[in-house]
Amino acid sequence: MTSGPSLTVLSVTSECVPFVKTGGLADVAGALPAAVAPQGVAMRTLLPGYPAVLEALGKAEQKPVQVARWDSLFGGAARLFAAQLEGRDMLVLDAPHLFTRDGTLYLGPDGQDWPDNDRRFAALSWVAAQIGAHGIEGWKPRVLHLHDWQAGLTPAYLHAMGASGSCGTLMTIHNIAFQGLTPASQMHALQLPGELFSAEGFEYWGQISALKAGLVFSDRISTVSPTYARELLTPEFGTGLDGVLRARAGDVCGILNGIDKQAWAPPFKSQRGKASRVAALRKEAGLPDSDGPLCVVISRLSAQKGLDVLLSALPALLARGGQLMLLGSGDPDLEDGFRAAAQDHAGVSVRIGYNEPLSRRMMAGAEAVLVPSRFEPCGLTQLYGLHHGAVPVVARTGGLADTVIDANAAALRAGVATGIHFAPVTAEALAHAFHRLCDLYDAGAPFRAMQRAGMKADVGWESSAEEYARLYAEIAKP
Ligand code: ADP
Ligand code: GLC
Repeated sequence: MTSGPSLTVLSVTSECVPFVKTGGLADVAGALPAAVAPQGVAMRTLLPGYPAVLEALGKAEQKPVQVARWDSLFGGAARLFAAQLEGRDMLVLDAPHLFTRDGTLYLGPDGQDWPDNDRRFAALSWVAAQIGAHGIEGWKPRVLHLHDWQAGLTPAYLHAMGASGSCGTLMTIHNIAFQGLTPASQMHALQLPGELFSAEGFEYWGQISALKAGLVFSDRISTVSPTYARELLTPEFGTGLDGVLRARAGDVCGILNGIDKQAWAPPFKSQRGKASRVAALRKEAGLPDSDGPLCVVISRLSAQKGLDVLLSALPALLARGGQLMLLGSGDPDLEDGFRAAAQDHAGVSVRIGYNEPLSRRMMAGAEAVLVPSRFEPCGLTQLYGLHHGAVPVVARTGGLADTVIDANAAALRAGVATGIHFAPVTAEALAHAFHRLCDLYDAGAPFRAMQRAGMKADVGWESSAEEYARLYAEIAKP
């Protein structure tokens, strides 16, 4: 705990629990303020006023305060509200022409990106830059913490305003696969200065890249695990931005995500309690009794997550008595593939959709959690798994490699193993991992030791919060 004046930080994000979530960014943005508070960091969070957020605003215990308004913000009137929501100090950008619509945060009802996503998140970034430069009602952030491409244009706006010196900027990459690309013809509509449209600025192969703007113009760059911070510098993982990142290699670091241990406390206290959760989950999933491990996947169904490889390797798990329950949605081919697997095999149960309460019951009842990702900046489900005595079986990449200790002979002997790594991400390697999992499961005692070690693993925010606080202090202005 540090004493003295607080270091003010504005976290700028397109999603945040418990209001809106499509993936791990929401968990991280929602947990950060409370995580860094003991380090003397006073964090406010700037979030778009999607319908669910406005609803939360309407239910706030204390009336939200309007702290700014614009007659025309990227094509319509907008207001900024300050409110305490669910224990978080929020700034909500109410811009109905940009954020009040049906569909998901980024996609229209047709499943396609909203055609004006560039403008929607340019508006968020522009407002963040205004707050960074001028403050709001007597409050000024000394640091802007920018998450993913949706906040990426912020330091470019600051630069264009001649206000880069007014606050520090940290750009965090949660997923480099999304870069906020838009045609150069949008420059005027996005109020971007033409002189920054160059290879040294936010130009990317003739287009505007919001993420590149963040990488080029921010003071520091972070991502969500040390291994992914190294991987990002390579062509294999850098997704076309590895050169930009290598040029700033000295400014790039990796800070692991944690989980909110209170919000994700396991609903059992003993091995017996766990066993009854396993039985309950089997029942809920409609799976028969089995003498193999009950494995779960809770995931977006996208190429990143390697679930096509899981489909191919599934027979190896089932042949050993293992079972799979999957919850997820996304790529229609993968949805169909898993539906078909459930029809073909009694040991497979599949729920297509997004369902947070079910995801929690699955973590509680799982004996293993599978994360066969091709790349994974950090990954959260393996952390929830560790915390719930579900042994992670993970691809040896990114944050998965950093948070799970492989059950090699030395780690098993030392009692520190918490899961199983496999590489490369192929059906053969995953099938081999399933055999290792089932061997350990059949042996009994080593599997239980792994469950115990996982439940004791440090998956909270404390040490990462210290790292963020140190980083904020280094870049804070003035
Ligand atoms: P990513 O952010 O790449 O999707 P993470 O593992 O960091 O991956 O975070 C995913 C988060 O979303 C986790 O909290 C996970 O439990 C949750 N999640 C993913 N799919 C679903 C789903 N279908 N239902 C409920 N929660 C889900
Ligand atoms: C991204 C990544 C995931 C990470 C999450 C939160 O969506 O894919 O690995 O855990 O962001 O940082």
